[in-house]
Amino acid sequence: FKANPSIKQGAKLNADTAFELVKGKLESASVDLEQLSPGKGGSVKWNGKTIGAYRDETGKVLAVDLTCTHMGCECNWNESENSWDCPCHGSRFAVDGEVLNGPALKPLKVIDTEKDR
Ligand code: FES
Repeated sequence: FKANPSIKQGAKLNADTAFELVKGKLESASVDLEQLSPGKGGSVKWNGKTIGAYRDETGKVLAVDLTCTHMGCECNWNESENSWDCPCHGSRFAVDGEVLNGPALKPLKVIDTEKDR
């Protein structure tokens, strides 16, 4: 087994899934939240919808509604910065939804994947 430098240690992904995640932008989520490895983020399927999720190194999931709070475009995962970036006017959000860069003023809506079923 040769380590792929683009996949963080501890990742338990098959090659196809890893490729989908490192591509960063997914047309539609192709993996389930359960398949997200520690240190990885991306659009995932959860509870019948597509949401944004990041699993930290301890296994905790931070999930957000990808609808940008500026004017409603869908944010994309930024693999190199671990952020959610909006393609429309450049707003950027942290994995917990907090605003990193405007013009958006409000954080992304947080989804509690433990409770909101
Ligand atoms: Fe996202 Fe404007 S809709 S920055």
